[in-house]
Amino acid sequence: MFEHIDAYAGDPIFKLVELFQADPRKDKVNLTIGLYYDEEGKIPLLASVQEAEKRSAALKKPRAYLPMEGLASYRQAVQKLLFGADSVAVKDERVVTVQTLGGTGALKIGADFLHKAFPAAEARVSDPAWDNYYAVFQGAGVPTSSYRYYDAKTQGLNFTAMMEDIAALPAHTIVVLNPCCHNPTGVDPSAEQWAQLIPVLKERNLIPFVDIAYQGFGRGLEEDTSVIRSMVDAGLTFLVASSFSKNFSYYGERCGALSIVCQSKEEANRVQGQLKATIRRVYSNPPTQGAQAIAAVLQDAELFKQWDAEVAEMRDRIATMRKLAHEKLKQKAPNYDSSYFVDQFGMFCYTGLTKEQILRLRDEFGVYMLESGRVCVPGLNSGNIDYFVDAVAAVVAP
Ligand code: LMR
Repeated sequence: MFEHIDAYAGDPIFKLVELFQADPRKDKVNLTIGLYYDEEGKIPLLASVQEAEKRSAALKKPRAYLPMEGLASYRQAVQKLLFGADSVAVKDERVVTVQTLGGTGALKIGADFLHKAFPAAEARVSDPAWDNYYAVFQGAGVPTSSYRYYDAKTQGLNFTAMMEDIAALPAHTIVVLNPCCHNPTGVDPSAEQWAQLIPVLKERNLIPFVDIAYQGFGRGLEEDTSVIRSMVDAGLTFLVASSFSKNFSYYGERCGALSIVCQSKEEANRVQGQLKATIRRVYSNPPTQGAQAIAAVLQDAELFKQWDAEVAEMRDRIATMRKLAHEKLKQKAPNYDSSYFVDQFGMFCYTGLTKEQILRLRDEFGVYMLESGRVCVPGLNSGNIDYFVDAVAAVVAP
């Protein structure tokens, strides 16, 4: 029956995780998938989450189906977190938010919705981008290609090229944007650059699809939403995929959301109806427990404060590792410019190491990073950073 079915080549990120897990070496270092690890190299279960889970469990609520759009308290909390407590757009009820299966689920529901609304629309993602964007959008029938973004020479943003490409797009092109902590490069446009880009998105009638998976890992929970808030202020109609995987360290619970900012309450109602229809035909309705715990944290002042501090701790540890890696590399490999460690933001940095160097790191030292040269910074800790630095110094040595 399935003789014609091709073998799966594997996902470039998860494939490496499997390779890493199978590696018997004791001093191996995992800098592959975007997971936050603490100083002990463990994925934390946040104290705020533990408390919320305890409270939810005590309620012994039955597990009936949620509505297609998800848990109401969770959806409201997402809106407050993304758009602000005083958002006029939220007050005017022109923002629709549905609970989704992680950020990827939000992208999928958004892509299906957009493909139905604009069957000829194409999507553009940054070059480079998170690989899975191609699979998600193309899987939804949306042809996907890239706009210029990263400049390998400066290891920074090629903003002129990015603007040129985006300004030349036909109306109703879906433009996927990371508002903070760009994956995979850690290179973000500055506030001034966003201020130039946002009016172009509006004038050209483009469909911005903002993907925020790292809220709180850049500058702060509130600060990292500034691009989203500016888009609302500029009167854009746009989509936001958001995820609690990272900032709640809640990866396996698949808690995300898709929000769409519309022009009126009446338009928002119709859009919400179509999102419900999309969800119904993909997975019917989302699961209960993760969303309940998140809503409990976000709606309780004390737990929110505790969570905010836990996010700050994760963010600060990443910043410390970035600084340490840079300082140590300066000493161990003085001819190698590792300033990207401190110039780039969030969970990832883009090392610019060659394929050969990356393979040597993996084969000779058991240091695993993506083949693009992306490093997941929180994979580093005070126990393995010297080993990592020595390994990098060895492969970049002239
Ligand atoms: C990553 O980029 O490593 C994360 O977003 C995890 C994933 O699903 O790929």
